[in-house]
Amino acid sequence: MLHSRRPPLPRPVVSSLAEARAVAGWSPEYSPYGDPVGWTPVGEGAHRAVILNPARTIVYKVENEAGRNRREHRTLGGLRDQGHVHAPPTTLWAVPNPAHGTGGAIEVLAMPYLPNDGTAPHTPYPRPA
Ligand SMILES: Nc1ncnc2c1ncn2[C@@H]1O[C@H](COP(=O)(O)OP(=O)(O)OP(=O)(O)O)[C@@H](O)[C@H]1O
Ligand SMILES: [Mg+2]
Repeated sequence: MLHSRRPPLPRPVVSSLAEARAVAGWSPEYSPYGDPVGWTPVGEGAHRAVILNPARTIVYKVENEAGRNRREHRTLGGLRDQGHVHAPPTTLWAVPNPAHGTGGAIEVLAMPYLPNDGTAPHTPYPRPA
């Protein structure tokens, strides 16, 4: 049973706006030639593509549908508020997007890199050349 007055778990700043900016416009569609230098794509889901920073510590999720990253950020933050240490700390970065005019932003989600155990694919889906 979780104690109702458990203090919130720490939310360390695990990422940076500079790194979020570096990948906000990235798309795996043109990988590997369009990948930012030093970064490594590590996965693709239905709604986000995931890329590993040059230090190989933090992944950044780039969404293909607005709101997906915000939703995961809220979900994981809520779990951490309840004391679930296994929910990774996340940071939602709002990267200004000139193409969207005033108030427009690309929301990039950062979280610690969690390497898999080798049983699941960790490279992007193969594409025809
Ligand atoms: N923290 C992480 N560390 C390492 N790899 C990750 C991490 N988060 C996601 N990935 C990789 O990126 C892939 C896609 O991530 P994610 O599931 O978050 O995207 P999604 O769009 O929500 O996909 P789906 O709709 O299938 O759930 C994962 O299957 C995994 O291989
Ligand atoms: Mg998912």
